[in-house]
Amino acid sequence: MNRQPFFYDVTLRDANQALKKPWNTQEKEVIFKKLLKLGVQAIEIGYPGASQMDFEAVEYLSSLSSQKTILSALARCNAHDIEKAAAAIKNASCPRIHTFIAMNETGLKYVLKKPIEDVTNLAVDMVKYAKSLLPDNGQVQFSVEHFGDCHENFEDVLKAIQKVALAGADVINLPNTVERFRPFDFVNMVKRVHEVLPENVMIAVHCHNDLGMASATTVESFFAGATQLECSLNGLGERAGNTNMYEVAVALHNSGLDVPLNFNKIYATALTVSELANVPIWEKAPIIGSEVLVHRSGIHQDGATKTKHLEKGAYIAFPPELVGRNDQEALGFTSQSGKTAIYEIINKTPYPISMQEAVRLVPFAKKLAEKEGELSTKQLLELYFSEICEIKGDFEFINFRKIDENKFNLEFSYKNKNYDLISKGEGPLEACLDMLKGAGFELNLLHYEQRAIDEEKGAKALAMTIINIEEDKDRTQTVRAIDSSTAKANVKAVFNALNLLSKGK
Ligand code: KIV
Ligand code: ZN
Repeated sequence: MNRQPFFYDVTLRDANQALKKPWNTQEKEVIFKKLLKLGVQAIEIGYPGASQMDFEAVEYLSSLSSQKTILSALARCNAHDIEKAAAAIKNASCPRIHTFIAMNETGLKYVLKKPIEDVTNLAVDMVKYAKSLLPDNGQVQFSVEHFGDCHENFEDVLKAIQKVALAGADVINLPNTVERFRPFDFVNMVKRVHEVLPENVMIAVHCHNDLGMASATTVESFFAGATQLECSLNGLGERAGNTNMYEVAVALHNSGLDVPLNFNKIYATALTVSELANVPIWEKAPIIGSEVLVHRSGIHQDGATKTKHLEKGAYIAFPPELVGRNDQEALGFTSQSGKTAIYEIINKTPYPISMQEAVRLVPFAKKLAEKEGELSTKQLLELYFSEICEIKGDFEFINFRKIDENKFNLEFSYKNKNYDLISKGEGPLEACLDMLKGAGFELNLLHYEQRAIDEEKGAKALAMTIINIEEDKDRTQTVRAIDSSTAKANVKAVFNALNLLSKGK
């Protein structure tokens, strides 16, 4: 497809008219400038006939940009509104007047109380009039309000649209003013319009989101011949809103199209609009919601983690940086989660955990999460300290101390029987293993490692001992312990190993 989408933003008009407190000029200016940075091709700045405040906003903002962005003002299909729009938009370098009237049967019969022929003649006259008020590069857009409802009189509407195009409309906009039916229905109607209109007339779609399918309808309308896509930031607009620009932009981008927007401005723009509109971003809002990068089910966590290096991750539709987000996919641990989440979350802290240990921690974490809901990293670490770094069982470490140069004392209990042993050894670990062997508890230690827990990140300077023990012929287990004393960390790790092995027996 060599046709590029043309983004016509209606935030300052359709979203604004639906706000509890419509924006003043200064507020509109903030968004207007964001839209220019986002790189949309056209901005509908307002409806000058609605209020003096909106007239002034259109007049002021349209004089700000010397870019080739088209700046548009809305007008009903009457001379008075069109004159106001022309006056307000006169300073724009690329001005457009956007006029509209309904052509659906209900609108004709109950609201306008006119036959379609009269409405068509009015539309033709008003398009010509609007054109006459604009400079040579000025454009006129005509919208068939309630186009999506024009099933019964569709052939008449098609004829009307052709006449309006012939009268000089540069853009014919097809609004789904109220979304009631299948996207497929609407898209087929767009296709029919595309078949009858000359190439030089741009087709636009303007979809409302009453049933939550505006973005889908807009995306598919593009492939059916609509080039101008009318969207709003954060999907704000009348009732359930308008087509959300970001959703359409990302969907078209993912479909391989060259989408002429500065995608990396999306996220920051969304936050600004939310704040100015006083409409918080729903945490599950596609693309921009705070929750949409979080995986909580064990299956998704596993897939997401295994594919995080790929451009198309298993459970993510777009790379967050594409839209200017600087957060990444994240895992949250709930009773639905599994080992991968524990492994990933804990390994992001200064405390290491092996996958085997994560597996051992799962039942404890799930049990807690069943009561508490999602566990914080702090809660997971508490479990890690209590269940991984201090494995409970028949062996209970009581104390370990150095008596002199090579002499050590070890106190522990096993099945409530106390042991108080003294031994000589090269170092504390060797002495401890010796004393245990002497008491009948031999341990086959395969690997031993000492680590310092990063002082900067960790709560305090700690020593961590990690040992690998043989569980049976072909299975080893990692066991660890933490203490402020290196010698005690060693001995505690040994007792953790004893308890772990005795559990399996
Ligand atoms: O939803 C609609 O039909 C409109 C028109 C003014 C284009 O907003
Ligand atoms: Zn609308």
